[in-house]
Amino acid sequence: MTEIPASEAAEISRTLAAARRIVVVTGSGMSAESGIPTFRGPRNGLWARFEPEQLATAEAFTRDRKLVWGWYRWRTALVEQAEPNAGHFALAELAELKSITVVTQNVDNLHERAGSSDVIHVHGSLFAPRCFDCGRGAAHEPAPPALAANPERRIAPPACTHCGGPIRPGVVWFGESLPERAWRRAVEASQDCDAMLVVGTSALVHPVAGLPMFAKGRGTPVIEINPEETALSGAVDTSWRTTAAQGLPALLSELKVIIGDD
Ligand code: OAD
Repeated sequence: MTEIPASEAAEISRTLAAARRIVVVTGSGMSAESGIPTFRGPRNGLWARFEPEQLATAEAFTRDRKLVWGWYRWRTALVEQAEPNAGHFALAELAELKSITVVTQNVDNLHERAGSSDVIHVHGSLFAPRCFDCGRGAAHEPAPPALAANPERRIAPPACTHCGGPIRPGVVWFGESLPERAWRRAVEASQDCDAMLVVGTSALVHPVAGLPMFAKGRGTPVIEINPEETALSGAVDTSWRTTAAQGLPALLSELKVIIGDD
């Protein structure tokens, strides 16, 4: 376990203590300690093991919908068996002290399961499937646990109860626009906040990678929490090299001390 320098947690917590509204932008590293693979991790990253062109585009779904649906059912099974980690829980608890808006690229719903209520899903959710043809929402079916063992199982997607079209995962694929309302809210929240935390994202995928710049452009302090250097590290005010499950609970404890909640 990496030792966290107390001074860093204290300094970041002082910034958070002075803020009224805090936006937390999260990426797949947020859920890494829940056992969910990131995308660009060198060994276990999803995009190191699988081809996004074959699995995460509308063209791929049109070409081979069983392959794509089966892969997303695998991911759903992994996520349903995972638990939120100490970082998710710390963010949920932070909302008892400060106004917290979580803007997440994650489709796993672990923020909600940990108790966060203001969560903006800019890349959609595995739990909100919809019709590929007519766009209507469809019921989420829990994935049988056995599916977690096989990412290559081909599964036919269910049919839409309105038009009969194939149901697709409710996530944003490459080449698709972000959900309009979620994106607008994310931009507004980033422009309106007094501090921003950016946790567990490589900051390589736009437009989400640009959100910290909306905050920076207004002089808002931006703090990155990530064990590795990222595309954002050079631009933020503070880059803390720690993990989500270690760093966020440490910040919460410091914040409680500062605002005398303990
Ligand atoms: P990436 O896989 O690109 O980046 C994950 C980041 O998490 C890296 O910077 C890691 O250093 C960091 N990380 C790893 N373990 C961590 C931990 N325990 N605590 C904190 N950070 C940790 O994932 P994203 O940035 O989320 O899009 O990727 C962005 C988008 O690219 C995804 O939403 C997805 C993908 O293609 C779509 O599917 C549309």
